Amino acid sequence: MTRLPEPLTLSGPNGHGAVLSYGAHALSWAPEGHEPVLWVSSRAYNETGRAIRGGVPLCFPWFGPGRTGDMEPAHGFARITEWTLAEQGEDEQGDPFAEFALTSEDVAPELREVFPHDFSARFRMTAGHTLRLELTVTNTGSETFEVEEALHTYLHVGDSERVTVSGLEGASYYDKVAKEQRVQQGELRLTGETDAVFAHRGEVRVADPALGRELVIGKEGSDSTVVWNPWADKAVGMSDFADDEWKTMLCVEAGNVMGSPVRLAAGETHTIAQVVEVRELPAEQ
Ligand code: BG6
Repeated sequence: MTRLPEPLTLSGPNGHGAVLSYGAHALSWAPEGHEPVLWVSSRAYNETGRAIRGGVPLCFPWFGPGRTGDMEPAHGFARITEWTLAEQGEDEQGDPFAEFALTSEDVAPELREVFPHDFSARFRMTAGHTLRLELTVTNTGSETFEVEEALHTYLHVGDSERVTVSGLEGASYYDKVAKEQRVQQGELRLTGETDAVFAHRGEVRVADPALGRELVIGKEGSDSTVVWNPWADKAVGMSDFADDEWKTMLCVEAGNVMGSPVRLAAGETHTIAQVVEVRELPAEQ
């Protein structure tokens, strides 16, 4: 077992965060004066070759078991591959960013066989008043290919049974628990295991009365939004998840997955971005 390298810290006037080169994995972020927004399990693995339970795993170039249903490792290889730090600096607001690079040359030979396409990818995290995450993929080969991708953001919430997720009203979604296609009626409240892939382009807001805040999750270049919480029974069966941690997390993922992959012709580039912002909620009555 090889322990993961130390994360890079991003600390600026408007926010603070940390990101690992392993998986180009955002581990933490808090805007100045606020509590941390990203959740990491107390039982998350800290070893190469395994995915990290929390922060923002990058799902690429497939999502879950892929569109054929049999791809391994789950959620693709990007999150368990070492990326190269390509650039570090500050944007025009003085917010620190780090950018990591991965190309098909960096991918292990056995995985190149599964995904035999030439690509280059960049992931940039900017830690300011908002958290900005951007994944840019370029087809550097000569043939068109399709990829799935997701910024699998684990949010820290005060009480998952009391959060209200809005912005998905009327969206059609695939319920991975019930294994059926549905349409979201009204705001989403979690009452059990939730694993849903919405055909959705807009903003999502997570109102969290227990922490007195609302998380506003915007995105660009993304046709899917995934909402996931394993709930009690499934959490007990996961070795990198403490039994009661489902109460304090919620994944809201910006993606292009299942029926909405990204198709890249030779030389084409696509960027998916997610922007998270914290707003205070009026105090509970
Ligand atoms: C979600 C998927 O994005 O990630 C779920 O929709 C999956 O089906 C979850 O269980 C966690 O995946 P993993 O591979 O990190 O355990």
